[in-house]
Amino acid sequence: MDAAVFDKDCRACPRLAGFLDDVNGRYPDYYCRPVPPFGSADARFLIVGLAPGMHGANRTGRPFTGDHAGILLYQMLHKYGFSSRDHSESAEDDLVLMDCRITNAVKCLPPDNKPVGAEINTCNSFLESELKLMPQDSVVMALGGIAHRAVVKARGLRQADYKFAHAAVHDLGDFILLDSYHCSRYNTNTRRLTEAMFDGIFAEVRELLQN
Ligand code: URA
Repeated sequence: MDAAVFDKDCRACPRLAGFLDDVNGRYPDYYCRPVPPFGSADARFLIVGLAPGMHGANRTGRPFTGDHAGILLYQMLHKYGFSSRDHSESAEDDLVLMDCRITNAVKCLPPDNKPVGAEINTCNSFLESELKLMPQDSVVMALGGIAHRAVVKARGLRQADYKFAHAAVHDLGDFILLDSYHCSRYNTNTRRLTEAMFDGIFAEVRELLQN
């Protein structure tokens, strides 16, 4: 049987499982479980983030939803025709992704937004399975270096052959990997990632998909 793409009951990482229990005690209304990918598995465009944010995906249960990191992302998804709305409010809103799916390299909220290497590796089998479901000639956008390395690892490739750089395009055989700085509050506030830069990345996605 194929390995799982996602396990909503996963507690494979003791530190993350314990942290989710702790956060759930402090915020009983929060989702506080592994956050599932959002969007259809046969989409030709997959966005890979880092991990759920404390008051965003970890609260709402949908990637990049409810915190600052999702603002620019959903605006761009809408502008480029991948989303029915330019703002994702909750897992219950009527937003639909078109030919697009969003996932995270690590499915559980990590303390200080920083998963450790063992957690990234343990969670990697989900990403590996997810990438196998993608149609030929798809585009994967990695948001930040950790997501980039998780994708390279999931394909069993050598990190030294595929270095992360903003706007770098890597041919991984079955799909194209396109890198972007992460759209975090820190990166957008410091203008490491500007709206124009992110717009350019999405224009490139459309070009790579050829429609
Ligand atoms: N929310 C997510 O789901 N992923 C990130 O990488 C950041 C915020």
